[in-house]
Amino acid sequence: MTTDLMEMTDEISPEIEARIEYVADLYRESVSPGLARLMMFAGFGDIEDYGEGCLLRTATGKEYLDFVGGFGVFSLGHRHPKVVAAVHRQLDRLPLSTRTFFNQQMGELAKKLSEIAPGDLQYTFFSNSGAEAVEAALKFARVATGKTDFISTNGAFHGKTMGALSVTGREKYRKPHEPLIPGVTFVPFNDLIAMENAVTDKTAAIIIETVQGEGGIFVATTEYMQGLRRLCDERGLLLIVDEVQTGLGRTGKMFGVEHHGVVPDIMTLAKALGGGVMPIGATIATEDIWNRVFGENPLLHTSTFGGNPLACAAGLSALNATIDENLCQNAEERGAQLLTGLRHLQTQYPDAILEVRGQGLIIGVEFPRQEFPEMAINGLTGMGIIAAYTLNNPKVIRIEPPLIVTEAQCATFLQAFGQAVEFAVSLLEGLEE
Ligand SMILES: Cc1ncc(COP(=O)(O)O)c(C=O)c1O
Repeated sequence: MTTDLMEMTDEISPEIEARIEYVADLYRESVSPGLARLMMFAGFGDIEDYGEGCLLRTATGKEYLDFVGGFGVFSLGHRHPKVVAAVHRQLDRLPLSTRTFFNQQMGELAKKLSEIAPGDLQYTFFSNSGAEAVEAALKFARVATGKTDFISTNGAFHGKTMGALSVTGREKYRKPHEPLIPGVTFVPFNDLIAMENAVTDKTAAIIIETVQGEGGIFVATTEYMQGLRRLCDERGLLLIVDEVQTGLGRTGKMFGVEHHGVVPDIMTLAKALGGGVMPIGATIATEDIWNRVFGENPLLHTSTFGGNPLACAAGLSALNATIDENLCQNAEERGAQLLTGLRHLQTQYPDAILEVRGQGLIIGVEFPRQEFPEMAINGLTGMGIIAAYTLNNPKVIRIEPPLIVTEAQCATFLQAFGQAVEFAVSLLEGLEE
């Protein structure tokens, strides 16, 4: 693949046009007509075809720098060779588990996770997605404490299955599915007093992200995270930290909690754990919690595909690559480069860019109105860069490139982002005149 973004061509052959129309029709007829409309409208009417490192190529031959990174999935980029090789090897032996004999790959990944996880987090339950990892965390917390209720934060995103959605803090996604699981209270993020006031004698756990990803990239303060730990200890609650998006180097440390010296009782992982090749979710907890949940019945919570050898081979290889390639450090350095560049841009457009915030390579740029991100994202796509807004806060453009991103690729992004903001500002000024 070439890295030269200028080589993009707008000429599309009739065959490719017909192929795109064919896939769009499949969406219209068999996937979701609304989604097909939305993708065409948003300028994503192309077919993803090939990925390598930070680059993605579509059916029309256009190449994009991927600055969404699958919302945290592609921390190792696309098709990291070591992960691909590990999955190939496993594919040729035994892809899925019979769930009768021991599964070596699952055992090895669990051991590795207990070695690198903070504090005394020791045992792992494997599933297939972030939401499932959260479901398990909520179930474990109820059984371990004998209590029923949870406290979450406004704007939090923990997934869209029934339990995970119940602790997700956005009305738009919750309302159509109500009644959700009862006993969930939402408080403002980074507000310790509000959290303290929300605790009752029914509260089983607090669930929190160290950086609210879909909420608009809000970074928890150390005072807040340590305060939550203290509060949980004093009131006999569990602290569930959802590291589905922040985990495995994204913030510049292996886990977001490491910025704060806090050890959760239960921690969830997914996205990057599959190395950008396989789906996997993980719920890690202490020995004490494990004994209380699974002590009498080791089959109390199970998953047919969870912990399958293919996903676990990918996971082990992904963890090793993240460590061997010093990706936490690269996330920290490239994150600093991007934050500096974006804050400089903010001084040029103080009315358009309200705030630039982030930690490592999870960065948000907040605009005053939703139209800004929409136009800027469109402009970036035209310049060969994929960007997106945050799901629970569409005024914020999220910047989450693979952790392998280079200094030169970040410089290319910053230049294009400047142009995209200029484009959005002039277009909106034109509309207002
Ligand atoms: C913090 C967090 N938790 C949970 C989830 C849900 O993960 P999934 O979409 O794999 O179910 C997400 C997804 O964006 C997330 O960011």
